[in-house]
Amino acid sequence: MIDATMAPPLETVNETTRAATEDAVLNPRFYTTDFEELDRLDVSPLRAQWDELVGEFRRDPNKDHFKRTPEFAELDWTGWSPELKAAFIEFLTSSVTAEFSGCILYAEIKKRVKNKDIRELFGFMSRDEGRHAGFINHVLNDFNVRVDLSFLTRAKKYTFFKPKYIYYATYLSEKIGYARYITIFRQLEKHPEYRFHPIFKWFEEWCNDEFRHGEAFAVLMRANPHTLEGINKLWIRFFLLAVFATMYVRDHARQTFFQALGFDVDDFDRKVIRLTNEISRQVFPVTIDTDNPQFWALLERMHQNMQTMARADAAAGIGGAVRSTLAKLDNGLTFVRLMFLPAKHAPLPANVRLEPVW
Ligand SMILES: [Fe+2]
Ligand SMILES: [Fe+2]
Repeated sequence: MIDATMAPPLETVNETTRAATEDAVLNPRFYTTDFEELDRLDVSPLRAQWDELVGEFRRDPNKDHFKRTPEFAELDWTGWSPELKAAFIEFLTSSVTAEFSGCILYAEIKKRVKNKDIRELFGFMSRDEGRHAGFINHVLNDFNVRVDLSFLTRAKKYTFFKPKYIYYATYLSEKIGYARYITIFRQLEKHPEYRFHPIFKWFEEWCNDEFRHGEAFAVLMRANPHTLEGINKLWIRFFLLAVFATMYVRDHARQTFFQALGFDVDDFDRKVIRLTNEISRQVFPVTIDTDNPQFWALLERMHQNMQTMARADAAAGIGGAVRSTLAKLDNGLTFVRLMFLPAKHAPLPANVRLEPVW
Protein backbone atom coordinates (compact mmCIF):
# COMPACT_ATOMS: atom_id res chain seq x y z
CA MET A 1 0.00 0.00 0.00
CA ILE A 2 2.81 2.38 0.80
CA ASP A 3 4.67 3.68 -2.22
CA ALA A 4 8.41 3.75 -1.51
CA THR A 5 8.97 6.64 -3.89
CA MET A 6 6.84 8.77 -1.59
CA ALA A 7 8.94 8.05 1.46
CA PRO A 8 8.78 11.09 3.70
CA PRO A 9 11.70 12.61 5.55
CA LEU A 10 12.43 10.60 8.68
CA GLU A 11 11.47 13.41 10.97
CA THR A 12 7.92 13.53 9.61
CA VAL A 13 7.55 9.76 10.02
CA ASN A 14 8.64 9.93 13.62
CA GLU A 15 6.58 12.93 14.53
CA THR A 16 3.36 11.66 13.04
CA THR A 17 3.77 8.18 14.44
CA ARG A 18 4.59 9.67 17.80
CA ALA A 19 1.49 11.84 17.74
CA ALA A 20 -0.65 8.81 16.93
CA THR A 21 0.95 6.71 19.67
CA GLU A 22 0.48 9.32 22.34
CA ASP A 23 -1.92 7.94 24.89
CA ALA A 24 -3.77 11.18 25.41
CA VAL A 25 -7.19 10.73 27.02
CA LEU A 26 -8.92 11.81 23.85
CA ASN A 27 -7.05 9.65 21.35
CA PRO A 28 -8.74 6.62 19.83
CA ARG A 29 -7.86 3.54 21.86
CA PHE A 30 -7.05 -0.03 21.05
CA TYR A 31 -9.22 -2.58 22.79
CA THR A 32 -9.11 -6.19 23.83
CA THR A 33 -11.90 -8.20 25.46
CA ASP A 34 -13.18 -11.49 26.92
CA PHE A 35 -13.39 -13.65 23.81
CA GLU A 36 -15.04 -16.62 25.56
CA GLU A 37 -17.99 -14.48 26.51
CA LEU A 38 -18.30 -13.33 22.90
CA ASP A 39 -18.30 -16.97 21.88
CA ARG A 40 -21.46 -17.53 23.92
CA LEU A 41 -23.46 -14.82 22.11
CA ASP A 42 -26.58 -16.19 20.49
CA VAL A 43 -28.19 -14.43 17.56
CA SER A 44 -30.98 -16.98 17.05
CA PRO A 45 -33.72 -14.78 18.60
CA LEU A 46 -33.21 -12.42 15.62
CA ARG A 47 -32.04 -14.95 13.06
CA ALA A 48 -33.92 -13.47 10.09
CA GLN A 49 -32.56 -9.95 10.63
CA TRP A 50 -29.12 -11.31 11.29
CA ASP A 51 -29.01 -13.35 8.09
CA GLU A 52 -30.26 -10.42 6.07
CA LEU A 53 -27.56 -8.15 7.50
CA VAL A 54 -24.79 -10.69 7.01
CA GLY A 55 -26.07 -11.12 3.45
CA GLU A 56 -25.49 -7.39 2.91
CA PHE A 57 -21.95 -7.70 4.23
CA ARG A 58 -21.35 -10.66 1.93
CA ARG A 59 -22.60 -8.75 -1.12
CA ASP A 60 -20.06 -6.11 -0.19
CA PRO A 61 -21.74 -3.10 -1.86
CA ASN A 62 -18.64 -0.91 -1.41
CA LYS A 63 -16.18 -3.39 -2.88
CA ASP A 64 -15.22 -1.02 -5.69
CA HIS A 65 -15.79 2.25 -3.88
CA PHE A 66 -12.41 2.83 -2.27
CA LYS A 67 -10.47 3.29 -5.49
CA ARG A 68 -8.47 6.44 -5.97
CA THR A 69 -9.05 8.65 -8.97
CA PRO A 70 -6.39 10.89 -10.58
CA GLU A 71 -7.79 13.93 -8.73
CA PHE A 72 -6.09 12.77 -5.52
CA ALA A 73 -2.56 12.88 -6.89
CA GLU A 74 -3.34 15.96 -8.97
CA LEU A 75 -4.55 18.02 -6.04
CA ASP A 76 -2.25 20.95 -5.43
CA TRP A 77 -2.20 21.70 -1.72
CA THR A 78 0.98 23.78 -1.79
CA GLY A 79 -1.09 26.99 -1.59
CA TRP A 80 -2.92 25.90 1.59
CA SER A 81 -2.28 27.80 4.78
CA PRO A 82 -0.01 25.92 7.20
CA GLU A 83 -2.92 25.88 9.70
CA LEU A 84 -5.25 24.15 7.26
CA LYS A 85 -2.62 21.64 6.24
CA ALA A 86 -1.87 20.82 9.89
CA ALA A 87 -5.59 20.59 10.74
CA PHE A 88 -6.32 18.29 7.80
CA ILE A 89 -3.37 16.03 8.59
CA GLU A 90 -4.52 15.86 12.20
CA PHE A 91 -8.01 14.91 11.03
CA LEU A 92 -6.58 12.19 8.78
CA THR A 93 -4.24 10.87 11.47
CA SER A 94 -6.94 10.56 14.09
CA SER A 95 -9.34 9.03 11.54
CA VAL A 96 -6.83 6.46 10.36
CA THR A 97 -6.09 5.51 13.97
CA ALA A 98 -9.80 5.09 14.65
CA GLU A 99 -10.40 3.01 11.50
CA PHE A 100 -7.36 0.91 12.22
CA SER A 101 -8.24 0.30 15.86
CA GLY A 102 -11.61 -1.03 14.59
CA CYS A 103 -9.82 -3.17 12.03
CA ILE A 104 -7.54 -4.88 14.54
CA LEU A 105 -10.17 -5.34 17.24
CA TYR A 106 -12.56 -6.96 14.75
CA ALA A 107 -9.77 -9.11 13.25
CA GLU A 108 -8.74 -10.23 16.73
CA ILE A 109 -12.33 -11.21 17.59
CA LYS A 110 -12.62 -13.15 14.35
CA LYS A 111 -9.38 -14.98 15.12
CA ARG A 112 -10.15 -15.82 18.75
CA VAL A 113 -13.84 -16.76 18.59
CA LYS A 114 -15.29 -20.09 17.43
CA ASN A 115 -18.94 -19.02 17.14
CA LYS A 116 -19.60 -19.13 13.39
CA ASP A 117 -21.98 -16.13 13.28
CA ILE A 118 -19.63 -13.89 15.23
CA ARG A 119 -16.55 -14.95 13.27
CA GLU A 120 -18.21 -14.26 9.98
CA LEU A 121 -19.54 -10.84 10.97
CA PHE A 122 -16.29 -9.62 12.48
CA GLY A 123 -14.35 -10.84 9.46
CA PHE A 124 -16.50 -8.65 7.20
CA MET A 125 -16.26 -5.62 9.48
CA SER A 126 -12.50 -5.95 9.78
CA ARG A 127 -12.30 -6.08 5.97
CA ASP A 128 -14.21 -2.78 5.73
CA GLU A 129 -12.18 -0.98 8.38
CA GLY A 130 -8.91 -2.14 6.83
CA ARG A 131 -10.11 -0.72 3.53
CA HIS A 132 -11.03 2.61 5.17
CA ALA A 133 -7.69 2.85 6.99
CA GLY A 134 -5.77 2.06 3.80
CA PHE A 135 -7.64 4.72 1.85
CA ILE A 136 -6.87 7.42 4.42
CA ASN A 137 -3.29 6.29 4.75
CA HIS A 138 -2.83 6.77 1.03
CA VAL A 139 -4.04 10.38 1.34
CA LEU A 140 -1.55 10.92 4.17
CA ASN A 141 1.09 9.65 1.76
CA ASP A 142 0.07 12.36 -0.70
CA PHE A 143 1.07 14.84 2.00
CA ASN A 144 4.38 13.03 2.52
CA VAL A 145 3.19 11.85 5.89
CA ARG A 146 3.26 8.27 6.98
CA VAL A 147 1.67 6.63 9.99
CA ASP A 148 3.32 3.28 10.48
CA LEU A 149 0.26 1.18 11.29
CA SER A 150 2.19 -2.01 12.07
CA PHE A 151 4.23 -0.05 14.57
CA LEU A 152 1.02 1.19 16.16
CA THR A 153 -0.24 -2.32 16.89
CA ARG A 154 2.97 -3.08 18.75
CA ALA A 155 3.44 0.21 20.56
CA LYS A 156 -0.11 1.13 21.59
CA LYS A 157 -1.33 0.03 24.94
CA TYR A 158 -4.43 -2.13 24.79
CA THR A 159 -7.37 -1.33 27.02
CA PHE A 160 -9.35 -4.31 28.34
CA PHE A 161 -13.08 -3.82 27.98
CA LYS A 162 -15.81 -6.24 29.03
CA PRO A 163 -17.79 -7.38 25.96
CA LYS A 164 -20.86 -5.33 26.90
CA TYR A 165 -18.76 -2.17 27.07
CA ILE A 166 -17.37 -3.04 23.64
CA TYR A 167 -20.95 -3.29 22.32
CA TYR A 168 -22.00 0.09 23.71
CA ALA A 169 -18.79 1.93 22.80
CA THR A 170 -18.38 0.38 19.38
CA TYR A 171 -22.04 0.69 18.45
CA LEU A 172 -21.86 4.37 19.31
CA SER A 173 -18.59 5.01 17.56
CA GLU A 174 -19.94 3.39 14.37
CA LYS A 175 -23.14 5.42 14.47
CA ILE A 176 -21.42 8.67 15.36
CA GLY A 177 -18.94 7.95 12.58
CA TYR A 178 -21.89 7.65 10.20
CA ALA A 179 -23.42 10.87 11.52
CA ARG A 180 -20.15 12.79 11.14
CA TYR A 181 -19.40 11.58 7.62
CA ILE A 182 -22.94 12.14 6.35
CA THR A 183 -23.15 15.61 7.94
CA ILE A 184 -19.91 16.64 6.21
CA PHE A 185 -21.05 15.08 2.93
CA ARG A 186 -24.44 16.88 2.96
CA GLN A 187 -22.77 20.20 3.78
CA LEU A 188 -20.39 19.88 0.82
CA GLU A 189 -23.21 18.77 -1.46
CA LYS A 190 -24.82 22.13 -0.70
CA HIS A 191 -21.55 24.09 -0.62
CA PRO A 192 -19.06 22.49 -3.00
CA GLU A 193 -16.89 25.61 -2.67
CA TYR A 194 -15.75 24.27 0.73
CA ARG A 195 -14.69 20.89 -0.63
CA PHE A 196 -10.97 21.47 -0.28
CA HIS A 197 -10.04 17.82 -0.79
CA PRO A 198 -11.57 15.05 -2.96
CA ILE A 199 -11.70 12.54 -0.07
CA PHE A 200 -14.97 14.16 1.09
CA LYS A 201 -16.71 12.92 -2.06
CA TRP A 202 -16.16 9.36 -0.81
CA PHE A 203 -17.99 9.96 2.48
CA GLU A 204 -21.51 9.02 1.40
CA GLU A 205 -20.87 5.37 0.58
CA TRP A 206 -18.22 5.25 3.26
CA CYS A 207 -20.67 6.22 5.98
CA ASN A 208 -23.04 3.47 4.83
CA ASP A 209 -20.35 0.97 5.85
CA GLU A 210 -20.19 2.57 9.30
CA PHE A 211 -23.98 2.56 9.53
CA ARG A 212 -24.04 -1.16 8.69
CA HIS A 213 -21.41 -1.88 11.34
CA GLY A 214 -23.60 -0.09 13.87
CA GLU A 215 -26.60 -2.16 12.71
CA ALA A 216 -24.65 -5.34 13.47
CA PHE A 217 -24.07 -4.28 17.07
CA ALA A 218 -27.71 -3.19 17.37
CA VAL A 219 -28.93 -6.64 16.27
CA LEU A 220 -26.40 -8.33 18.57
CA MET A 221 -27.60 -6.37 21.59
CA ARG A 222 -31.29 -6.75 20.77
CA ALA A 223 -30.79 -10.52 20.36
CA ASN A 224 -29.17 -10.56 23.82
CA PRO A 225 -31.53 -8.26 25.72
CA HIS A 226 -29.81 -8.67 29.10
CA THR A 227 -27.22 -6.22 27.71
CA LEU A 228 -29.94 -3.54 27.69
CA GLU A 229 -31.60 -4.09 31.05
CA GLY A 230 -31.20 -3.23 34.73
CA ILE A 231 -27.90 -1.67 35.76
CA ASN A 232 -26.79 -1.72 32.13
CA LYS A 233 -29.10 1.21 31.47
CA LEU A 234 -26.76 3.31 33.61
CA TRP A 235 -23.79 2.06 31.61
CA ILE A 236 -25.60 3.00 28.42
CA ARG A 237 -26.08 6.56 29.68
CA PHE A 238 -22.46 6.66 30.73
CA PHE A 239 -21.28 5.63 27.27
CA LEU A 240 -23.64 8.00 25.46
CA LEU A 241 -22.35 10.89 27.53
CA ALA A 242 -18.71 9.84 27.32
CA VAL A 243 -18.87 9.56 23.53
CA PHE A 244 -20.72 12.87 23.12
CA ALA A 245 -18.52 14.79 25.56
CA THR A 246 -15.33 13.44 23.98
CA MET A 247 -16.45 14.46 20.53
CA TYR A 248 -17.57 17.91 21.68
CA VAL A 249 -14.30 18.66 23.42
CA ARG A 250 -12.14 17.31 20.58
CA ASP A 251 -14.00 19.15 17.84
CA HIS A 252 -14.05 22.43 19.72
CA ALA A 253 -10.28 22.23 19.95
CA ARG A 254 -10.09 21.84 16.15
CA GLN A 255 -11.97 24.84 14.88
CA THR A 256 -9.72 25.40 11.83
CA PHE A 257 -10.80 22.13 10.26
CA PHE A 258 -14.51 22.82 10.69
CA GLN A 259 -14.25 26.43 9.55
CA ALA A 260 -12.54 25.24 6.37
CA LEU A 261 -15.60 23.06 5.68
CA GLY A 262 -17.86 26.06 6.22
CA PHE A 263 -19.20 24.78 9.54
CA ASP A 264 -19.75 26.48 12.82
CA VAL A 265 -18.30 23.76 15.07
CA ASP A 266 -21.15 24.21 17.54
CA ASP A 267 -23.80 23.59 14.86
CA PHE A 268 -21.87 20.61 13.56
CA ASP A 269 -21.60 18.96 16.97
CA ARG A 270 -25.21 19.65 17.89
CA LYS A 271 -26.39 18.11 14.64
CA VAL A 272 -24.18 15.04 14.95
CA ILE A 273 -24.98 14.44 18.63
CA ARG A 274 -28.74 14.85 18.10
CA LEU A 275 -28.69 12.48 15.15
CA THR A 276 -26.60 9.82 16.89
CA ASN A 277 -28.81 10.04 19.97
CA GLU A 278 -31.94 9.67 17.83
CA ILE A 279 -30.54 6.68 15.91
CA SER A 280 -29.52 4.96 19.14
CA ARG A 281 -33.18 4.67 20.17
CA GLN A 282 -33.27 1.58 17.92
CA VAL A 283 -31.37 -0.28 20.62
CA PHE A 284 -31.00 1.83 23.78
CA PRO A 285 -34.07 2.03 26.06
CA VAL A 286 -32.57 5.16 27.55
CA THR A 287 -31.03 8.13 25.71
CA ILE A 288 -29.98 11.72 26.38
CA ASP A 289 -32.44 14.61 26.48
CA THR A 290 -30.73 16.79 23.87
CA ASP A 291 -33.48 19.43 24.23
CA ASN A 292 -32.28 20.21 27.73
CA PRO A 293 -30.12 23.39 27.56
CA GLN A 294 -28.25 22.19 30.67
CA PHE A 295 -26.84 19.29 28.66
CA TRP A 296 -25.19 21.66 26.17
CA ALA A 297 -24.08 24.06 28.91
CA LEU A 298 -22.27 21.24 30.72
CA LEU A 299 -20.55 20.07 27.53
CA GLU A 300 -19.40 23.65 26.99
CA ARG A 301 -18.10 23.75 30.55
CA MET A 302 -16.00 20.64 29.87
CA HIS A 303 -14.60 22.29 26.76
CA GLN A 304 -13.72 25.45 28.73
CA ASN A 305 -12.02 23.34 31.39
CA MET A 306 -9.94 21.60 28.73
CA GLN A 307 -8.87 25.01 27.42
CA THR A 308 -7.92 26.08 30.94
CA MET A 309 -5.92 22.87 31.40
CA ALA A 310 -4.06 23.41 28.12
CA ARG A 311 -3.21 27.01 29.07
CA ALA A 312 -2.23 26.08 32.63
CA ASP A 313 -0.02 23.19 31.48
CA ALA A 314 1.73 25.51 29.05
CA ALA A 315 2.31 28.07 31.83
CA ALA A 316 4.06 25.51 34.06
CA GLY A 317 5.00 26.38 37.67
CA ILE A 318 2.90 25.76 40.78
CA GLY A 319 0.14 28.18 39.75
CA GLY A 320 -0.25 26.34 36.44
CA ALA A 321 -0.33 22.92 38.14
CA VAL A 322 -3.02 24.10 40.58
CA ARG A 323 -5.19 25.62 37.85
CA SER A 324 -4.81 22.48 35.76
CA THR A 325 -5.75 20.17 38.64
CA LEU A 326 -8.78 22.29 39.54
CA ALA A 327 -10.00 22.24 35.95
CA LYS A 328 -9.54 18.47 35.81
CA LEU A 329 -11.52 18.01 39.03
CA ASP A 330 -14.23 20.29 37.72
CA ASN A 331 -14.45 18.17 34.58
CA GLY A 332 -14.97 15.07 36.69
CA LEU A 333 -17.74 16.83 38.59
CA THR A 334 -19.29 18.16 35.39
CA PHE A 335 -19.47 14.64 34.03
CA VAL A 336 -21.21 13.48 37.20
CA ARG A 337 -23.71 16.34 36.76
CA LEU A 338 -24.32 15.16 33.19
CA MET A 339 -25.09 11.68 34.54
CA PHE A 340 -27.67 13.20 36.91
CA LEU A 341 -29.61 15.05 34.21
CA PRO A 342 -33.02 13.47 33.52
CA ALA A 343 -32.71 10.94 30.70
CA LYS A 344 -35.24 9.99 28.00
CA HIS A 345 -36.87 6.61 28.41
CA ALA A 346 -38.71 4.94 25.53
CA PRO A 347 -39.86 1.44 24.62
CA LEU A 348 -37.69 -0.23 21.97
CA PRO A 349 -39.14 -0.36 18.43
CA ALA A 350 -40.46 -3.75 17.29
CA ASN A 351 -38.06 -3.82 14.37
CA VAL A 352 -34.47 -3.11 15.31
CA ARG A 353 -33.22 -2.37 11.78
CA LEU A 354 -32.83 1.17 10.42
CA GLU A 355 -31.88 2.50 7.01
CA PRO A 356 -29.24 5.23 6.55
CA VAL A 357 -31.69 7.87 5.31
CA TRP A 358 -30.10 11.04 6.67
FE1 LIG B 1 -14.61 2.61 9.10
FE1 LIG C 1 -16.95 0.99 11.10
